Amino acid sequence: MAPGPGNAPDDVDQARSRIVALREQIEHHNYSYYVLDAPEIDDTAFDRLFAELQALETRFPELVTEDSPTRRVGARADQGFAEVRHRAPMLSLANAFDDDEVRGFDRRVREGLGLDTDDPPVPYNAELKYDGLAVTLSYENGRFVRGATRGDGELGEDITANLRTLRAIPNRLRASAPALLDVRGEVLMYRSDFEELNRRQQALGDKVFVNPRNAAAGSLRQLDPSVTAARRLRFLAYGVGEDTDSMLPQRQSALLDWLRELGFPVGSPRRVVEGVAGMLGFYAQVAQQRPALSFDIDGVVYKVDARASQRRLGHVARAPRYALAHKFPAEEAITRLLEIEIQVGRTGALTPVARLEPVFVGGTTVSNATLHNEDEIRRKDIRVGDWVVVRRAGDVIPQVLRVLADRRAPQQELPSFSMPANCPVCGAATERDETEAVWRCVGGLSCPAQRKRAILHFAQRRAMDIEGLGEKLVDQLVDRELVQSPADLYAIGLDTLVALPRMAEKSAANVLAAIDGARGKPLSRFLFALGIAHVGEEVARILAAHFRSIDGLAGADWDALLADKAERQKENAKRRAAGEAPLAVPLEGIGPEITAAVAHFFSEPRNRGIIAALLAQGVLDASPPTAPAAPVDDAALAGRTFVLTGTLPDLTRDQAAELIRAAGGQISSSVSRRTDYVVAGEAAGSKLAKARELDIPILDAEGLRALLESK
Ligand code: IVH
Repeated sequence: MAPGPGNAPDDVDQARSRIVALREQIEHHNYSYYVLDAPEIDDTAFDRLFAELQALETRFPELVTEDSPTRRVGARADQGFAEVRHRAPMLSLANAFDDDEVRGFDRRVREGLGLDTDDPPVPYNAELKYDGLAVTLSYENGRFVRGATRGDGELGEDITANLRTLRAIPNRLRASAPALLDVRGEVLMYRSDFEELNRRQQALGDKVFVNPRNAAAGSLRQLDPSVTAARRLRFLAYGVGEDTDSMLPQRQSALLDWLRELGFPVGSPRRVVEGVAGMLGFYAQVAQQRPALSFDIDGVVYKVDARASQRRLGHVARAPRYALAHKFPAEEAITRLLEIEIQVGRTGALTPVARLEPVFVGGTTVSNATLHNEDEIRRKDIRVGDWVVVRRAGDVIPQVLRVLADRRAPQQELPSFSMPANCPVCGAATERDETEAVWRCVGGLSCPAQRKRAILHFAQRRAMDIEGLGEKLVDQLVDRELVQSPADLYAIGLDTLVALPRMAEKSAANVLAAIDGARGKPLSRFLFALGIAHVGEEVARILAAHFRSIDGLAGADWDALLADKAERQKENAKRRAAGEAPLAVPLEGIGPEITAAVAHFFSEPRNRGIIAALLAQGVLDASPPTAPAAPVDDAALAGRTFVLTGTLPDLTRDQAAELIRAAGGQISSSVSRRTDYVVAGEAAGSKLAKARELDIPILDAEGLRALLESK
């Protein structure tokens, strides 16, 4: 069997042929990546090849050659620009992919510095590993004279003219510095600028970039600097070239502070940490913050903070011994789109889902990704059979970002995507809802897919909370036509459940008990459970607080309500202009789209039937509805009871209570049905939960002020 990853060769001949193959592959990918700016594999795959070669060369030192990719940095520079020899070589970083490798790094550092086990932990400067392009900026007597790419680490390309167009790079230093100074850092593009650039490129019919790194590379390597100038590139400094000058700060952390003073942007977060625990703590923190950063990073970098120690540790062939890159799993990968499947949601919405050739991205193997909707697929011109860029960041559902159109062979006639005319589940017609750009199956609850989703929605914890009624069981109940609507759940008998495959008597009894317990719920929960389009938990709460009963809601005169609302909004515009207190507006946050959906839901005889059947089962809290919420603008706060909970941002609790009492209101310490408002601040706990449970209006500090002012 040919040796490959996972089965390391153990004799020298096998190792030699594997090493030759790896070097060829790495050189090829280096060329595609560094010279052509057109990667064919993702970073993780490349890093793996490299790690395998390194491991083999460590095991068979006699096979190491001077021209191995492990002995030099990246590929040689392109032809278009003049060559520059770096005053000090531009090194690379050793990579770590797990905690153990970080421990190994710390151990080697401690050994190299001659530290004992009982010596204190080593201080490291922990910083971000920017996913851009390394550049060096030469300053002579404080003036920017030359900028170059890394190239092979010894010779780079002279891109001074292009770098000069970056506003992040100072032309003159803002503080005194050695006569000769090389500043090292990374050129990159912010994610938002990248999206914007791609939108522009697409509109012009120009090349769309794969990721911000490639967009930055493509923009920097422009022979015409005016193109670079139009691309909004950034620069982040992380070090200097030569480190002989005694004027330089003697710690990496202080060096970065100093570079900032000289006028260079330096990324954050960065922090001096102690030993392995400190490094791993920083890694975990950054992993959390990563999705919120404005730019891509592919890991963090640890550097021994004391530059004297750095000098003592020195470097091996390609990387300093004092620094380590701790990499994150790549968030983007390239794979093949095998199929576009259509899923039918609870409201009949058809969602296209990409079936992918499995690919390792964001730390797991991904084989499905969302494609959002038809317009999105058209806009991105995604076709079955395409090579696509898939992104998986944090816990977010994987997405197909874009197609690699150049990889679509010209003769390859891939059909463009269109939504099916019939529901793939029930065969009913589909129609496009123009207001939302969504296609829907018109089958409603007669479509098994919609029925299953509706029942699962009804049963979920935040709705009727029926434990044990999961996807598998609902599939069975619907497929066997035992349950047509949520109301049928309450009529299921033990025999029926026990007769289902893989259903033990004990768990059947538990499910029945859970269904039986799903009664007497507050109106807001029940409304949410019904699964009316656009009625999420918040909207359900607002509707419940306003109408106070299902009959009130079912019989709502929406036209009159909306007219009243519009009237008040108009009046408020006048009042605001005149500096007067505004009127309260009923059903704040509920627009015509929602009211139309609610009205439509209650107009369906079938839905009314289901609701009647559910009410007969006692699903709703039977206690009489409290008095309707008084419109806020009807006099003062006389007779209104308030409960205060949590900390308000700029008001003590006593101050808030005083304001309420001054307006005639009362303060109570516990939430009950007689409470009119709960004023909730930071860290509000059980009282807030109780208020939600009872559908009591909740105010924040601002809401309280608005209420007081409206009196
Ligand atoms: S220091 C002395 N610090 O990562 C070591 N490099 O594989 C020189 N990079 O091409 C690099 N962020 O461009 C250093 N905070 C950071 C970095 C960083 C990104 C890049 C650098 C280099 C590559 C090393």
